[in-house]
Amino acid sequence: MTTASTPSAAPSTAASDVVHAPGSPDEGWWRHAVIYQVYPRSFADSSGDGVGDLPGITARLDHLTDLGVDALWLSPFYRSPQADAGYDVADYRDVDPLFGTLADADALLARAHELGLRVIVDLVPNHTSDEHAWFRAALAAEPGTPERARYLFRDGRGETGELPPNNWQSVFGGPAWTRTTNPDGTGGQWYLHLFDARQPDLDWSNPEVRAEFEDVLRFWLKRGVDGFRVDVAHGLVKAEGLPDWAGHVDMIEGAEPDEHAVGPVLVSPRHPAPMFDQDGVHDVYRSWRTVLSEYGEDRILVAEAWVEPMERLARYVRPDEMHQAFNFPFLTTGWDASALRTVIGTSYAAADAVGAAPTWVLSNHDVVRHPSRLGLSAPGSRPNGIGHGDEQPDEALGLHRARAATLLMLALPGSAYLYQGEELGLPEHTDLDDTLREDPTFRRTGGAERGRDGCRVPLPWEADRPAFGFSPTGATWLPQPEGWGAYAVDAERGVPGSTLELYRSALALRRRENLGSGGLAWTDGGEVGSPRWPAGTVAFVNRDVLVVANLSADPVVLPAGAEVLLSSAPVAQAPEGTTPVPQDVTVWVRVPG
Ligand code: NOJ
Repeated sequence: MTTASTPSAAPSTAASDVVHAPGSPDEGWWRHAVIYQVYPRSFADSSGDGVGDLPGITARLDHLTDLGVDALWLSPFYRSPQADAGYDVADYRDVDPLFGTLADADALLARAHELGLRVIVDLVPNHTSDEHAWFRAALAAEPGTPERARYLFRDGRGETGELPPNNWQSVFGGPAWTRTTNPDGTGGQWYLHLFDARQPDLDWSNPEVRAEFEDVLRFWLKRGVDGFRVDVAHGLVKAEGLPDWAGHVDMIEGAEPDEHAVGPVLVSPRHPAPMFDQDGVHDVYRSWRTVLSEYGEDRILVAEAWVEPMERLARYVRPDEMHQAFNFPFLTTGWDASALRTVIGTSYAAADAVGAAPTWVLSNHDVVRHPSRLGLSAPGSRPNGIGHGDEQPDEALGLHRARAATLLMLALPGSAYLYQGEELGLPEHTDLDDTLREDPTFRRTGGAERGRDGCRVPLPWEADRPAFGFSPTGATWLPQPEGWGAYAVDAERGVPGSTLELYRSALALRRRENLGSGGLAWTDGGEVGSPRWPAGTVAFVNRDVLVVANLSADPVVLPAGAEVLLSSAPVAQAPEGTTPVPQDVTVWVRVPG
């Protein structure tokens, strides 16, 4: 038995409900932009080798304009042995032959700009590849030389240096140190790698490292990029002396508040980790901001920083630092109305306090795709990959919720990030053969974590073509699940009710109504004395649009005459003129005048 709540008139929003004041659509483009993440190896393959490439992206850019986004962010395409899918860079100023050439990068930039799309590229400053010229020189050099001083080489502990210099663990599992071998075959110094052993950490206290990256920024700024997404932005500077720390930090987890546990520990001031969120990182971003300003005020820096609480994250977007920081607390909140209201409110409070605009994101190349996350029995859980023998998500329920979550996100003022394929409602590949997994986390944890391959499967473009149109030969670096034809772009384009059409409509309305630069005021659904929305509702007003996400089993009933602009699933008017909004549905409604 459910009880419906029927607000009788326009939504009430007292001044105290105002969480964020509206801005202007003319302010900095990034403050309200929708930015689409392209994962180059899985977007579109022009060469037929089964790996996506830059010409493939250029040829498909019209998909992005058709969708209605403002910009794209390209994950790394630089020269790299691909030990971590390109987040292990061997040459920051060149394109890996797997993806094309520098000329292909220029052509992509030119075409995107012609289409009115801005382009953000990934920058990986915390570590290089072990095949970077600097690291090769470091290995060939003696301890104590300038070549070694670009990285974090240290002598080991124990009688003969046989123990690592400290007890830090790699984010990908296993120790964060690897020992080198001397020319005579004896054990040498150790080097630090917060991620894979093939990703040695740079020493950011070395001015040469700082100068090199400012030069890399200029190299790409001159080629016309509109900004940089900064990988592991919270990790560059380590605490003096590299002190022991018993925690383990996981990019995706990060939960257990027990500083003595060797389980996941949140990176927060309560549990300070000596390798993350050190004050010194902010000097780096201040100097980068100055470099960007040499090229005008429209180029941006985006922090990938897994830092909590939100006030700490906001320090990365102070006026003289970066422009945006990914809102991972929003991504990891799951499907709970009260938790969502809290994270939304906290995000505005923290961003407004430093004059920045918040960002919103539900999926990326590091997490289980949100239709699959939300189809789990605990929709707030965040496994690092899903495989054979794991709980399999409810695909239909997950997609139903994911569409509601997306519609909620796209109505929030600020900037939103989309991950390629989410506009198709693409689920995670959840039963990938373990022998095909490439993510180093799978190997480094002995298979305990499945890793991120399942969200990186090549996109389906045309239902009836080999590899669903991803590559001309039908080759794909990871297999696509059989049923993916139903999610192909050509299977959804122009089909009313498809996820692609939902995203297109949402982005068009968001633009038309200036929701990205709008404001947010909570509404409880009624005037004083009239019924409220049920507790499991997230409801707010942004400009002239009332947004109601009903996460509860109680239907929310919109008053007679409510004009539904868009809904994540069909809603129908009852005979008396009211409109019930069922469970796990979000609606955008014209605020009654
Ligand atoms: C964050 C990136 O998003 C992820 O894919 C990568 O593995 C790590 N940083 C290390 O670079």
